[in-house]
Amino acid sequence: MHDSLFQPIKFGAIESKNRILMAPLTRGRSTQPGSVPNEMMATYYRQRAGAGLIISEATGISVEGLGWPAAPGIWSDEQVEGWKLTTDAVHEEGGKIVLQMWHMGRLVHPDFLGGEPPVSASATCAPGHAHTFEGRKDHQQARALETDEIKRVVADYRHAAENAKKAGFDGVQLHGANGYLVDQFLRETTNQRTDDYGGSPENRTRFLREVLEALVDVWGADRVSVRLSPNGETQGADDSNPAAVFGAAARVVQELGLGFLELREPGPDGTFGSTDVPKQSPLIRTIYTGPLVLNSDYTAEEAAEAVETGKCDAISFGRPYISNPDLAERIAKGAQWAENVNVPQSWYLPGPAGYIDYPAMDDK
Ligand SMILES: Cc1cc2nc3c(=O)[nH]c(=O)nc-3n(C[C@H](O)[C@H](O)[C@H](O)COP(=O)(O)O)c2cc1C
Repeated sequence: MHDSLFQPIKFGAIESKNRILMAPLTRGRSTQPGSVPNEMMATYYRQRAGAGLIISEATGISVEGLGWPAAPGIWSDEQVEGWKLTTDAVHEEGGKIVLQMWHMGRLVHPDFLGGEPPVSASATCAPGHAHTFEGRKDHQQARALETDEIKRVVADYRHAAENAKKAGFDGVQLHGANGYLVDQFLRETTNQRTDDYGGSPENRTRFLREVLEALVDVWGADRVSVRLSPNGETQGADDSNPAAVFGAAARVVQELGLGFLELREPGPDGTFGSTDVPKQSPLIRTIYTGPLVLNSDYTAEEAAEAVETGKCDAISFGRPYISNPDLAERIAKGAQWAENVNVPQSWYLPGPAGYIDYPAMDDK
């Protein structure tokens, strides 16, 4: 069934056996202290290697950039060794995996930074709560990065990209979505800078461009991608003219010739965030001519329809992959999906429950 989803595709240099991606999913299972990927994570990703391409959970590029309990990092040698368990497991099963690179910016709580404020494009404070090891706490005011300091953050991304290569990934994806640091530079409400990194849409995409250039330098453009969330507010990051800034961002992606672009675009009835702001993918599709991956709330039927009508080249699935390790196989056979959507209590629990205990359909 849904043959269009099973046509092989090249995401730049990455050959994918189908058009079903596993979307990035933070699961908070790394070993503490040290945010080190472990054997249990390797098992989880091995189970999901039927996806044409796995995008890993968001992974901290630096201590400064990571503020999620038990999320993994990629700045230390120990983390590189830990990730090798996962990349080997996925490759053994014939799968592919890229690393999602994460700097959370103002969404890091000072608890993770020895009491220091988080960094961001400007001195703003996110609404809502941070997840910390001691439960939820109000977000705190960020400190604006100095112009000269931005180079240091870009160097942190470069170092992390080099480590991702050592760890055996097939490529990297810059996390430019969901109100984290890159998005904080892109949007008006979080970027009030008066230097070359603020103001016009082109200036607000400068940080995105500089980080991507560093990643391209390490990996080559055909193994680098980026995820954006162009419609609607994300964790307080918003823009009065998303077409202008995300049009500019798409031009950066096109000029650099990245391997693929992924967009998280909820609709008005979205079940992981919802918005009335129109989807920007039709505009972005006219600017970026490489493989476009769309995400959010897709069924198998809708995914096939989106590929067949040329809206995009592939679909990434998030929550369905939590409870269906063999989602691609189920889609191929027209089999039912196991329900799990919207059970947040198992998303971030430590341990194997709700993580590696979802059976494949043939194991039942
Ligand atoms: C538990 C959970 C963790 C997530 N972690 C990430 C993440 O690390 N990086 C990211 O870009 N998006 C993350 N997301 C968003 C998903 O990738 C995806 O955009 C969202 O679930 C909507 O797609 P779906 O309807 O296919 O689930 C997460 C979502 C969930 C439910």
